[in-house]
Amino acid sequence: MTDEKKVLFSGMQPSGYVTLGNYLGALNNWTTLQYDYNSIFCIVDMHALTVRQDPAKLRKAARDVLMQYLAVGLDPEKNIIYFQSHVPQHAELSWILNCYTYMGELNRMTQFKEKSQKHADNINAGLFTYPVLMAADILLYQTELVPVGEDQIQHLEITRDIATRFNGIYGDVFTMPEAYIGKTGARVMALQDPTKKMSKSDENANNTIAILDDPKQIINKFKRAVTDSGNEIIYSDDKPGIKNLLSIYCAVTGKTIKEAEKEFENSGYGDFKIAVGEAVVAKIEPIQKKFEEYQKNKDYIDEIIKTGAEKAERIAEKTMRKVRRKIGYPDKIR
Ligand code: TRP
Repeated sequence: MTDEKKVLFSGMQPSGYVTLGNYLGALNNWTTLQYDYNSIFCIVDMHALTVRQDPAKLRKAARDVLMQYLAVGLDPEKNIIYFQSHVPQHAELSWILNCYTYMGELNRMTQFKEKSQKHADNINAGLFTYPVLMAADILLYQTELVPVGEDQIQHLEITRDIATRFNGIYGDVFTMPEAYIGKTGARVMALQDPTKKMSKSDENANNTIAILDDPKQIINKFKRAVTDSGNEIIYSDDKPGIKNLLSIYCAVTGKTIKEAEKEFENSGYGDFKIAVGEAVVAKIEPIQKKFEEYQKNKDYIDEIIKTGAEKAERIAEKTMRKVRRKIGYPDKIR
């Protein structure tokens, strides 16, 4: 990593599958950002524990997400790619920051409110302090930019509040991070209900496309996608179904909305939906091929996992040494 570039940090939970929404909204943008920033891409397996997980599934999902990071084109030489749980400094800083975060602040988090409704039988303390762990993720690496979706802006704001409070007491320990809101990131909506976001935790499998879905299945899901009344293929808020399909089409082909509208001027909804499905498959198939190669190459992936954790830990430990001293932990005798 060179020093002139800004530090960029982002993370994704290894729960369920990586969806087309995750890909077009985040991962695909990261593949361009990696050239302009010192980027750190984390797989936040500790955050995943805030809902009950099957251990074998979690272990596999975490590794699969890492291989998908690589398959979409994130370069492990250029970036730091690692599992959050491999760097214990995340847990350590998270505890400390808990003591500099108010219950009232956490009570206001909309994601906490939503998730506690959804998991009413398991409103655990981790779910409540989730944003503090996220703050630790970001602050450990002296991050300047955090590419996040709209739904994470509130978490970034609390991170800034915690950093400001901590720096106010102890001097400049943490770099102040900023949200990086990509201009190109497509917001992909559920195929059967285009008024809500495509989500990996959706119970209806027809709503989501996983980037590892079988191509035939992908085409079928697009064939079944909900459209709107009328028959024109135009980008308009009164046509949420067509609007979603057009923006997916443009995101995977690189075409503009205007170009796409023109291209489908004389097409019916049926043909259009198949064309979108095929364009998605064309974009995703090479990623699937790479993923399959990585699956066969255990040693190579193990090596990336090992070096990723080492590189991350070196930076995280540097921040922690400062933090431990500042807050008054006794010096460790070595
Ligand atoms: N909370 C984020 C999400 O659900 C994931 C995440 C955890 C994250 N730690 C982060 C994102 C640090 C950016 C930076 O999308």
